[in-house]
Amino acid sequence: MGHYNLFLVFCLTWSLLILGSHQLQSSQTQVLLQLKKHLEYPKQLEIWYDHGTDFCYTSSSTEVNITCENNFITGLKIKGDKQAKVSNFDGFAVASVTLSENFSMDSFITTLARLTSLRVLSLLSLGIWGPLPDKIHRLSSLEYLDLSSNFLYGSVPSKISTMVNLQTLILDGNFFNDTIPNSFDSLYNLTFLSLRNNKLKGPFPSSIQRIASLSDLDLSNNEISGSVLDLSSLSSLNMLNLSENKLDSELPALPRGLVMAFFSRNSFSSEIPEQYSQLSRLQHLDMSFNTVRGIPLAALFSLPNISYLNLASNMLNGSLPNSLNCGAKLGFVDISNNRITGELPACLSNESDKRVVKFGGNCLSSNAKNQHAKSYCLEIHVEKKERKQSGGKNVGILVGIIVGVLAIMVLLASGFLIVCRRYCPRGVSEQRLLHKAVQDNSAATFSAEILTSARFISNAANLGSEGLPACRSFTLEELKAATKNFDDSTFMGEGSYGKLYRGRLENGTQVAIRCLPSSKKYSIRNLKLRLDLLAKLRHPHLVCLLGHCIDGGGQDHYTVNKVFLIYEFVPDGNFRTHLSENTPGKVLNWSERLAVLTGVAKAVHFLHTGVIPGFFNNRLKTNNILLDEHRIAKLSDYGLSIVSEEISNIEGKQEDSKSWQMTKLEDDVFSFGFLLLESLVGSSVSANRRQFLREELESLNSQEGCRKIVNPVVMATSTQESLSIVISITIKCICSESWSRPSFEDILWNLQYAAQVQATVDNEHKY
Ligand SMILES: *[C@@H]1O[C@H](CO)[C@@H](O)[C@H](O)[C@H]1NC(C)=O
Ligand SMILES: *[C@@H]1O[C@H](CO)[C@@H](O)[C@H](O)[C@H]1NC(C)=O
Ligand SMILES: *[C@@H]1O[C@H](CO)[C@@H](O)[C@H](O)[C@H]1NC(C)=O
Ligand SMILES: *[C@@H]1O[C@H](CO)[C@@H](O)[C@H](O)[C@H]1NC(C)=O
Ligand SMILES: *[C@@H]1O[C@H](CO)[C@@H](O)[C@H](O)[C@H]1NC(C)=O
Ligand SMILES: *[C@@H]1O[C@H](CO)[C@@H](O)[C@H](O)[C@H]1NC(C)=O
Ligand SMILES: *[C@@H]1O[C@H](CO)[C@@H](O)[C@H](O)[C@H]1NC(C)=O
Ligand SMILES: *[C@@H]1O[C@H](CO)[C@@H](O)[C@H](O)[C@H]1NC(C)=O
Repeated sequence: MGHYNLFLVFCLTWSLLILGSHQLQSSQTQVLLQLKKHLEYPKQLEIWYDHGTDFCYTSSSTEVNITCENNFITGLKIKGDKQAKVSNFDGFAVASVTLSENFSMDSFITTLARLTSLRVLSLLSLGIWGPLPDKIHRLSSLEYLDLSSNFLYGSVPSKISTMVNLQTLILDGNFFNDTIPNSFDSLYNLTFLSLRNNKLKGPFPSSIQRIASLSDLDLSNNEISGSVLDLSSLSSLNMLNLSENKLDSELPALPRGLVMAFFSRNSFSSEIPEQYSQLSRLQHLDMSFNTVRGIPLAALFSLPNISYLNLASNMLNGSLPNSLNCGAKLGFVDISNNRITGELPACLSNESDKRVVKFGGNCLSSNAKNQHAKSYCLEIHVEKKERKQSGGKNVGILVGIIVGVLAIMVLLASGFLIVCRRYCPRGVSEQRLLHKAVQDNSAATFSAEILTSARFISNAANLGSEGLPACRSFTLEELKAATKNFDDSTFMGEGSYGKLYRGRLENGTQVAIRCLPSSKKYSIRNLKLRLDLLAKLRHPHLVCLLGHCIDGGGQDHYTVNKVFLIYEFVPDGNFRTHLSENTPGKVLNWSERLAVLTGVAKAVHFLHTGVIPGFFNNRLKTNNILLDEHRIAKLSDYGLSIVSEEISNIEGKQEDSKSWQMTKLEDDVFSFGFLLLESLVGSSVSANRRQFLREELESLNSQEGCRKIVNPVVMATSTQESLSIVISITIKCICSESWSRPSFEDILWNLQYAAQVQATVDNEHKY
């Protein structure tokens, strides 16, 4: 009986479907076949043979899906496989990536518009290229429009605002590079608007404020600038993603019902609005990498539903109350790299399985790990005061400031002469620093403060870096001349930080030129500030940064094509090649190795706590340590996370997670442990860290085991005592609990002691 019923139902559905489809108007069929031709016969559409094809019935898969109603096509979804993205699409067909140059977006849409009943249209990854024509509005019944992962560019047509039935509009992953039209408020049924991963410019469209039906808004990863106004009127909004743009206003007021908010990697610069403490449904809040100021809003931590809270890399100062309440669902908190002072509140300080807390790089007191040095925390106050003053927009103030700056420039110039006379040759770099500061704070009134900090810097820089040339900016032409237009013969290698070339400047200086992969994350101004910080890192055991070159492509002051870093050329190869016996004559003996390691440890200690502390993740490797003609060790590729965070993130993920259980800030001690290990046993370690750890680390503890794995050159040139000092500090560095690893001061002390022990014995043998 049951089977019979089922069969009946089946037959009924079948005949209904056949009725529905067989009568599909022939004009509609024709349109589909024309679309197939426009799309250059993608293999997903092979099932559409000819006019005989039963379109409404046959084709329903994840790739091709047609819905019909009353002899008309109401839904059309096609998903192609042209997903390969080119980084620099310039508006023309690219062979085997986009459709051919014969494709015309305009006639494609004209054809499509003949499907007058279309309510759902989704054309993904089909290589469709060209500007999206205004006539898209002819598809006036559309409720759902998704054209993601194609090659559409130009502006989002303003006529879209007449498509009043639209509920969902998705144009993700295209090349839209103009402004967003500001007439969305007529789309009163719009619930889902996503324009992420394009190159949209201009201001945030204020009309969005008035789409009361909107529940998801994603404009992330564009180049939208300016301010975001009050969004609290968007009463249905659940998800807001404005990450990775160039927004620089105050943080906007948010609607009470919001569940997820992403603001990261912009330049939002207010305090956290009090109003956020009322967002009772908020689960996920990410405002990392902005310039948010003030005291971290304690109420955020105790929101009833908050589970993810990321305030990292801002300018938050002040302290959190020790009695801070953490919401029951709070599982992840990141407040690292701010200037937060005081104690870490109890609910954040106890490591438990249910809550991950990151707090390094702050000014927290005593027992918190990886905090900035006092000097840095003090210096920040100075910097901030300047910032504040430069923020004034009042015209009157501006005029005053311009006059003031002129006067001050004169004063400074005469000041310079005096300073220069006293401190030359170091004065050259000092002059640059001040000069830079003048340019960057063009509206600031200079006071004793900046002079003080400049003196502070030069004093610290004085620790042995005299005679190093000043860092300057290079032109692309200079670099091309130095490298014969980046000729293959000058190519030295490629690492995760990009390609490395060898060059010779006009004055004969040999240089190494690192070409960082392009990053659209920073504006040129921001990048310059970062590069200036990097340039201040000067230490006898750091490869000297001679300058940089920002290739802006010459279009505007936002796009950065490439960044080149120009370093001194260090002639004698890297540490790794000096560790193995395969390169006879070059192999370093034990005390030479200790000298190299001590130098590197000093450099890293300087990066962590020196002039500008906080350069933690320096990805120490034996091939990043270069030796000059006197076999003085110099660390290269240091501090680069300040200009290219993404890269280091990716790298971190690829690493073996088990043996890398530590936060990013602690990397350096751990990696230094591997440097030590490699110096002990040779370069085989780095190839297979985990394997080595598991099987052979213990054998270092016994004299027997030592003899087996320690490099014979080391064995022959070291004393037992010196060796065991280094072995024991090595084991501490690579211990799996990050908290029990030693500090760099400890490491340095041990290395110097080991070297001393060795030297005493060596000298006894001599005489
Ligand atoms: C086809 O699309 C309709 C509506 O657009 C949807 O309900 C259905 O699940 C889709 N079918 C497949 C197989 O994806
Ligand atoms: C957008 O991109 C196209 C193609 O690359 C280019 O021709 C056009 O000038 C760009 N428009 C803007 C406003 O940048
Ligand atoms: C473009 O069209 C012309 C003429 O119709 C044809 O000869 C040519 O092969 C087409 N090019 C491609 C890449 O399809
Ligand atoms: C669109 O909005 C209007 C007015 O708010 C409403 O009457 C209509 O039902 C909505 N249409 C749909 C499909 O939600
Ligand atoms: C928001 O945008 C950022 C940047 O594009 C992305 O990493 C993040 O996953 C987005 N969040 C959501 C929920 O889509
Ligand atoms: C918290 O989230 C849950 C579901 O995730 C929801 O049921 C609850 O209403 C939310 N609490 C508040 C105060 O909105
Ligand atoms: C935080 O920084 C501001 C300047 O931006 C300063 O006025 C304020 O005193 C600082 N607060 C604390 C507690 O350090
Ligand atoms: C945190 O841990 C310490 C010692 O491990 C303990 O004394 C203290 O009570 C704990 N605090 C909380 C809030 O659990």
